[in-house]
Amino acid sequence: MPVLDTFRRPLRNLRISVTDRCNLRCQYCMPEMDYVWLPRQDILEFEEIGRLVDVFTTAGVDRLRLTGGEPLVRRDLQNLVRILASKSKIRDLALTTNGVLLEEQAGALRDAGLHRVTISLDTLQRDRFRALTRFDELPRVLAGIRAASSLGFSAVKIDSVVIRGVNHDELVALLEYGRTVGAEVRFIEYMDVGGATQWSREKVVSRSEILDGLERHYGPIEPVVEESSAPADRFRVSDGTVFGIISSTTAPFCASCDRSRLTADGLWYLCLYGVHGTDLRGPLRAGASPADLRRLIESGWSSRADRGAEERLALRDRAALVSVDTLRRDPHLEMHTRGG
Ligand code: GTP
Ligand code: 5AD
Ligand code: SF4
Repeated sequence: MPVLDTFRRPLRNLRISVTDRCNLRCQYCMPEMDYVWLPRQDILEFEEIGRLVDVFTTAGVDRLRLTGGEPLVRRDLQNLVRILASKSKIRDLALTTNGVLLEEQAGALRDAGLHRVTISLDTLQRDRFRALTRFDELPRVLAGIRAASSLGFSAVKIDSVVIRGVNHDELVALLEYGRTVGAEVRFIEYMDVGGATQWSREKVVSRSEILDGLERHYGPIEPVVEESSAPADRFRVSDGTVFGIISSTTAPFCASCDRSRLTADGLWYLCLYGVHGTDLRGPLRAGASPADLRRLIESGWSSRADRGAEERLALRDRAALVSVDTLRRDPHLEMHTRGG
């Protein structure tokens, strides 16, 4: 039985950031020119991540997602995938990537036992891609998506953060593209997370606007009726194409949030908006037993009361969450450090 938090939410889903580094600079995530990186010696070895995951599974975790930064810039990631895929309690092993290095790594990741891949893709226009991410990498990302979709992963998804004035006119194009490569597209509301220093309410394209925009093109859209599948709500257009919307900004899913995140240097956060993380690296490296670590994790989760996105929604004057100065003092507040 998974451990429950103060709102009776189970500990199920662990997002593991394997590096804070990234080979893109998306405007909504890493808009600054310089960043303070985690010290190299603090980054967990794969074997250390494996030991922590063993403890997490005893407390209820059965779904893992590898994130970053950009996880594929971590050398030999397939070796970590192999370690994690061999754990019998893990039912789902997924990866979130920007796709730049995917074409060359997809085969090895699949062979190592990765189940699912989600690729971030916000635009299909090359000049826009470069303006949004600061690198001219759209062709490689598209090649990565094609490679992944031909390899028999149990699912390939595309995540598109929708920003007014940037890509909100590409909803139909992205949906059509997803269909041609057999990938489900999820439109994500722009979130005021740490790192999103350019966020403003006006730039958020809400779930209802996204639906309106697509209905103008496709006609009536119906919700897909299914058991809770947070964070995305799924919909079907008249030709049968299914897509998702992640409305963390205007309709958060905190009430059913079963996820926590492990940073590349072994801090454990209970919420995307959480300010303090529990240090697991220190005890692990000091020789704590699996039972000690399990007690730490279970006591942390059982006192969890976080509902960060709902609290943000309740604010009257909502602006970027954290200032650039504060982010430089505590890089753990960055989305790219705690896992997107
Ligand atoms: P699936 O298991 O395929 O549904 O994956 P996922 O949606 O959990 O993973 P993905 O990495 O694709 O995340 C999609 C988006 O959901 C992220 O980019 C965030 O915008 C949002 N998201 C992820 N984790 C959290 C979280 O803990 N809280 C909130 N509020 N939003 C999150
Ligand atoms: N708003 C919404 N999603 C974000 N991501 C990063 N920053 C934001 C933000 N401000 C998500 C994107 C990307 C993933 C790695 O993190 O979905 O695909
Ligand atoms: Fe973009 Fe992801 Fe890199 Fe952030 S971590 S800059 S969202 S590719």
